[in-house]
Amino acid sequence: MSHSTPKFLTTLALLGAGLALAGVSHADGPPAAAACAGCHGADGNSTVTTFPKLAGQQQVYLLRELKDYKSGKRASEIMAPFMADLSEANLEELATWYAKQKPAPGVKGDPALLKLGKALYMNGNNKTDVPACASCHEDDGSGYKKFARVAGQHVEYTLEQFRLYASGKRSNGARVMQTVAERMTEQETRAVAEYMASMP
Ligand code: HEC
Ligand code: HEC
Repeated sequence: MSHSTPKFLTTLALLGAGLALAGVSHADGPPAAAACAGCHGADGNSTVTTFPKLAGQQQVYLLRELKDYKSGKRASEIMAPFMADLSEANLEELATWYAKQKPAPGVKGDPALLKLGKALYMNGNNKTDVPACASCHEDDGSGYKKFARVAGQHVEYTLEQFRLYASGKRSNGARVMQTVAERMTEQETRAVAEYMASMP
């Protein structure tokens, strides 16, 4: 490890290696997926709530995000090092493979929050000009092409992405997501995140 490697990255790399040693292998994925399994799960169904699930995610969306991590357009100190040695063909192979994996079913949280979350997801909030999420992410959260799948995603990961959108730190994609994140209250964000996580 060089002196410039931040300590938390070293810890994460060790964590990844540890999980890999604990028997998480990359199933039948492309060789490049071996480096991802420790964090994103052997089949893309990550069990660590800060690491996004990739299984069943839209191929078009995955490929763009991977290219943006590689170029730095989507900034992540955790993801960037894993992109450095991968070719465009590797990224395409990874996006295609993860998109084909079967997503694990969602997890149901607080029923009171789910009700508010569902209302927001299906209808948005007219008073604050928040559009219906379903209009882009589909009623069942499965997404379409560049519109990310959101069904079954970890609440923790989603909350962090909303913080990044609202602060302008995640700006590689649709401007609409920054606007949406700015306009939603903390309670609304949590409710909609819980609802998306609960989708089958
Ligand atoms: C040390 C843990 C770790 C490893 C190893 C890792 N990732 Fe990630 N990955 C993360 C984290 C954390 C994020 C969220 C980063 C952010 O906020 O942008 C992420 C985000 C992603 C995303 C964006 C998902 C979305 O829904 O927008 C993709 C795609 C991805 N990783 C693919 C990969 C691939 C492919 C590999 C292997 C080549 C890999 N990751 C290796 C931790 C990891
Ligand atoms: C007009 C279309 C549109 C609407 C409406 C919309 N989104 Fe999005 N959303 C996108 C696109 C496109 C992306 C892909 C990422 C990007 O462009 O930054 C995205 C990305 C996301 C992500 C990041 C996914 C990931 O894996 O990192 C989340 C979470 C999300 N949207 C949730 C919502 C929620 C919740 C709502 C409703 C309150 C909503 N979106 C409304 C278009 C939309």
